[in-house]
Amino acid sequence: MAPQRILTGIPELDAVLRGGLLEGRIHLLEGRPGTGKTTIGMRFLVASAAEHRRCLYVTLSETVEELRATADSHGWPLDGIEMFAPDLLGAGDYGEQTILLPSNAELSRLIDAIAGEVERVGAERVVIDSMAEIRLLAHDSSHYRRQIIALRDRLTAAGATVLLLDDLTAVNHEFELQSAVHGAITLEQRDRSYGSARRVLKVVKLRGADYQSGWHDFAILRSEVLVFPSLIAEEHHRPYEVTELTSGVAGLDELMGGGLLSGTSTMIIGPAGSGKTTVALQYALAAVERGGKAAYFALDEAEMTLRSRMIERFGVEHGTSEPHGLLVARINPSRISAGAFVWRVRRRVEDDQVGLVIIDSINSYLDLIKEERTLLLQMNELFSYLANMGVTVIIIGAHSAALDTTREPDALSIITDNVISLRFQERDGVIEKAICVLKKRHGQHARDIRHFVLTDAGFEVTGRTSSPPSEHMTALVP
Ligand SMILES: Nc1ncnc2c1ncn2[C@@H]1O[C@H](COP(=O)(O)OP(=O)(O)O)[C@@H](O)[C@H]1O
Ligand SMILES: [Mg+2]
Repeated sequence: MAPQRILTGIPELDAVLRGGLLEGRIHLLEGRPGTGKTTIGMRFLVASAAEHRRCLYVTLSETVEELRATADSHGWPLDGIEMFAPDLLGAGDYGEQTILLPSNAELSRLIDAIAGEVERVGAERVVIDSMAEIRLLAHDSSHYRRQIIALRDRLTAAGATVLLLDDLTAVNHEFELQSAVHGAITLEQRDRSYGSARRVLKVVKLRGADYQSGWHDFAILRSEVLVFPSLIAEEHHRPYEVTELTSGVAGLDELMGGGLLSGTSTMIIGPAGSGKTTVALQYALAAVERGGKAAYFALDEAEMTLRSRMIERFGVEHGTSEPHGLLVARINPSRISAGAFVWRVRRRVEDDQVGLVIIDSINSYLDLIKEERTLLLQMNELFSYLANMGVTVIIIGAHSAALDTTREPDALSIITDNVISLRFQERDGVIEKAICVLKKRHGQHARDIRHFVLTDAGFEVTGRTSSPPSEHMTALVP
C-alpha cells in the first residue's frame, strides 16, 4: 500500500509532490548554503505543530537562538516544536584535544543521541539540520554510511516523517544520502544576468510514488514560501463555449473579419506610441461590457500612466480604486521568475475566471526568461494552456522595424493565431498611423491598410491609406 502523504506547509510544494511527503519516511532536502533548506524545514514543522503533531527540530548548524530569530523574521511561531541542539564535539566529555580528532565512537554517540531524542519526544515530524555537521564527525565513508543507515532505520521504526537537510558541501558525493533515503528534493539558487537570483527546486526521487518532475521556481517571502509548479498545458482542460469577442470599434472589427475567438491568441505589433495597448484594452473593455473579466499584465512600467484615459473607461470597481472588470498586475521583470509569472496568469484564469489575458509587452517578458528555454517553447505551453481553458490572449510586441520572424520576439507571430500590425507612415509630408491585419487563422480578414487615429475615447479606424502592404508584410508571408 502506498504511504499516506504529509503536507509540507507549502501548498504548491505539495502539488509538485502530488500530495506531500511520504508518511513515516525519510526525505532529503539538499542545496547549497542559503538555498532555503532551514526555511523550508522550519515551515514544515510550523505547519505540523499547527495541526498538533509532535515536532522535533534537531539543530547542529545553528543555535536555538539563531533559529528563533529566523522564525521571528518570518513571523512563524515555534510553539509546540521541540528543539534539540546536541553537543556536537563532545568537548565536555573528552577534553579539548579531541575536538580536532573526531572519532567513529563520537559519530555513533551523536546518531544515538538524535534517535534517542526522537524516541523520547515521540516525534511524528522531524527535521535534522544538517547532515553536513554529522558528516564532519565521520572518519571514513563506510562508517558514515553505516551510521546513516542506522539513523534511517531507527527513525523509520519510530514512525517519524523526517526531513534531513544537507548542504552539499561534501567533496565526495558518490554514496550520498540520496540513495539511503526514500525521497529527495534539491534546491538551487541561480544567478541571473540582472535582477534578483532565481530559486528553483526539483524532486529527485520519491520512492514508489508519483511527483511532478522537472525544475520549479520558488520564492522565499517574509511570511511564506511560494512554489510555482511548472506548467503542463495538457493537464488543464475545461469545457467552454466558443464565443467571438468583437472590439466594438467598427473599423477594427471589419478589418479583423469579426472578433477574436475564445481560446485563440493574437499578437499586436508596432513601434512605441503607435496604439498597441489602446487596441488591446479596447478588447478588454468590450469583454467587460459583456459581463466578462480581463487580466492585464503590465511589464513595461510606464504603460499604465500613459494609457490612463483608456483605463478610466472601465469605471471603478465597487469599493476599490481598481478598474471595473480589469485585473491589473504590474510586474517588474527583473524581480520575478518566469515560473512565478505563469503562476500569476494561472491564478487569474483559475481563481478569477478571466476570459481575456493581455501581456504588455512580450519584449519585457523576453527579458524575464532570457536565461531559459526559448520564448517560443514557453509561450507555446502558455498558449496551449490558455486555449484549453477557453481564454483569449493578446500579447503586445514592441518593434520599430519590419517584422522579422527569424528572431524573438517577432518569431512569436508564427505561433499566434492572429497578428494585428500598427505602423507610422508618411503621406504627403505628414506622419500618420496605419493599422492592418496580417494574419487570422480562423476565417477571413480584410486585406487593406487603414488610417488609425488615437482619440480621447480610444481610437478610430477610418478609410484606406495609400501605402503598399509590403512594409507590414515583410517576412510574415510563408
Ligand atoms: N524573513 C525573511 N524574508 C525573506 N527572505 C528570507 C527571510 N529570512 C531568510 N530569507 C532568505 O532565505 C535564505 C536563507 O535560507 P536558509 O533556509 O537559511 O538557507 P539554508 O538553510 O539552505 O542555508 C536567504 O537567502 C534569505 O534571503
Ligand atoms: Mg540552514
